[in-house]
Amino acid sequence: MYTIRAEQPSDVEKIREVNDSAFEQENEGKLIAKLRESEAFVEELSLVAETEQQEIIGHILFSRIRIETESGMVDSHSLALAPMAVKPESQNKGIGSALVREGLKRAEEIGYESVVVLGHPTYYPKFGFIPASEKGIKPPFDVSDEVFMVLELDPGALDEVEGTVRYPDAFLEV
Ligand SMILES: CC(C)(COP(=O)(O)OP(=O)(O)OC[C@H]1O[C@@H](n2cnc3c(N)ncnc32)[C@H](O)[C@@H]1OP(=O)(O)O)[C@@H](O)C(=O)NCCC(=O)NCCS
Repeated sequence: MYTIRAEQPSDVEKIREVNDSAFEQENEGKLIAKLRESEAFVEELSLVAETEQQEIIGHILFSRIRIETESGMVDSHSLALAPMAVKPESQNKGIGSALVREGLKRAEEIGYESVVVLGHPTYYPKFGFIPASEKGIKPPFDVSDEVFMVLELDPGALDEVEGTVRYPDAFLEV
């Protein structure tokens, strides 16, 4: 049994540990620390999965992004889902999926309109993600079409927006 809730200051170190163990490297933990200091950070959308024994076993973060269009940089009320991590011993039990679903629900509730993700093309479609190219949204890096996906929390939100996603600087620094 576990609950999902927004991060608190006392979770910071444990969130880093979850990421270090899931990714087997420190980059994602460092990225989260940098994002936390940036204006892209949305405290309500840094979610942890916590057991009844108060162990943090999963984490997901959504950060604000902008989209560069032909007419300039647009704040399209968009987020990027990244990173997401579940402790190795707790993987494949649905915790990652629960974090995604809860994050999308909360993001919608506080008024965000779309979410992009760079990830596995068989994992994210079940939450409603589609290739971002179908919405005219391009990644800022050279990746194959199906791994860069988007979900409109507000259907049609991206109908008038075409362009390239600009991630927070923290993504370029780690
Ligand atoms: C990706 C991750 C967060 C999923 O968490 P989880 O709690 O195991 O996820 P769920 O139990 O909800 O779902 C498991 C599904 O994810 C799939 N999966 C696990 N890791 C995956 C990966 N790196 N890429 C694609 N699919 C993956 C499993 O095959 C399984 O598929 P199924 O639902 O069709 O059976 C977790 O495996 C993890 O922390 N991995 C290491 C870090 C990472 O790669 N994060 C994602 C990139 S930001």
